[in-house]
Amino acid sequence: MDRIIIKGGNRLEGKICISGAKNAALTLLPCALLTDEPLTLRNLPRLADVDSFAHLLNQLGVSTTVEGARPNEFGRVMTLRASSITSTVAPYDIVRKMRASVLVLGPLVARAGEATVSLPGGCAIGMRPVDLHLKALEALGAELEIAAGYVKARAPDGGLRGGTIRFPFVSVGATENALMAAVLAKGETVIENAAREPEITDLAKCLIAMGAEIEGLRTDTLTVHGKDRLHGATYAVMPDRIEAGSYACAAMITGGSLVLEGARKETMPSILSGLEDAGAIVEDVRGGLKVSADGAIRPLSISTAPFPAFPTDMQAQFMAMLARAEGTSLLTETIFENRYMHVPELQRMGAEIEVRGRAAVVRGVDRLVGAQVMATDLRASMSLVLAGLAAEGETQVHRVYHLDRGYERLEEKLQGVGADIERVSDG
Ligand code: EPZ
Repeated sequence: MDRIIIKGGNRLEGKICISGAKNAALTLLPCALLTDEPLTLRNLPRLADVDSFAHLLNQLGVSTTVEGARPNEFGRVMTLRASSITSTVAPYDIVRKMRASVLVLGPLVARAGEATVSLPGGCAIGMRPVDLHLKALEALGAELEIAAGYVKARAPDGGLRGGTIRFPFVSVGATENALMAAVLAKGETVIENAAREPEITDLAKCLIAMGAEIEGLRTDTLTVHGKDRLHGATYAVMPDRIEAGSYACAAMITGGSLVLEGARKETMPSILSGLEDAGAIVEDVRGGLKVSADGAIRPLSISTAPFPAFPTDMQAQFMAMLARAEGTSLLTETIFENRYMHVPELQRMGAEIEVRGRAAVVRGVDRLVGAQVMATDLRASMSLVLAGLAAEGETQVHRVYHLDRGYERLEEKLQGVGADIERVSDG
């Protein structure tokens, strides 16, 4: 097991290259299942979850080849090809480790007419059911059977048929599965109350590049005109808005100034407005954004909600930043039922936080103190790194495999802007 050791107090200054978005990559990879032609993805982040997904696709018969990236380059180019699908089973031992595996469900039923996918089960941040994914497939004519922890989905004779999918509330993954199933369904599909996260738009643009016909991008109603087949394409993964927001918090909590190379303003409206409300100076610079601290961090009252509102994936990172604010902040987590596991670890570093159900009251303190802390999930891990960057003394973050799921070469990127941070292996 690796751990990260941070000696806090350094002001961060310089340029950080933002990698391809994990949550876009994980929905673009299964698109390869929708055609027998090659799909080449550029700017693919070098992350554990991307490797896990590629491994799952290999087991389904998809060939994956990576173009060697030069050592100092971020991201990779991967060409995927599902000439034929040799298996339609996504096994428990893979799905339990990465719930995004459920995103093979829609493409497999659309292309191969069937899929047997392990139900993902809960994870650290919540129950995370997939009932909306299943309802979406049923709306397109799929027959489902759930047994022994697996869902077996089968398209009707002649394949999936277009239909209307009405989501009772926004689900990113269910919208992605619905889209990837609908592009090969016969006829027109309307997806109502679709998620509007930028990663959904990235998926739709990649599918369109593959020959799909989709209207309503960036809105909550997507209309898909099904095609008999899709063709190959080359597509570049969008930059990671959550990684960019996380490093913006690093600039704020250390009183520094960072250029986030590749960050796209239009994908992070509420993150940037939150940073500005907290006192940050946000500037457009060539090819990215510059975020600078400007005096004390101001307290905030923020609720997480689907895009374009404030993203749940930034809640833990903002909490770390607000632990050093001048005043009391209120954070409300409305998406997941258990996304405050970073709180006890931040409290061990001197943060004053009180959780009341879905709300967390954060009383800013003058100083945080380095400590041994435990990562519990991806974004919680990043909040501990952020606190360590500002804390007096040394912080050791254990179980950093959580971080490796979503942050490409984190310590290298932070070392490059002045952090005293290193990774040590206990193995
Ligand atoms: C995606 O998860 C992201 N993961 C999450 O990022 C992100 O937090 C989440 O969207 C919300 O933005 C990927 O894209 C790989 P949802 P997803 O379906 O699709 C409930 C990270 O840190 N729900 O939008 O699983 C669900 O329990 C990760 O990068 C159902 O009840 O999220 C949750 O309460 C964490 N039934 C809410 O909806 C369903 O069928 C939103 O979940 C599906 C979801």
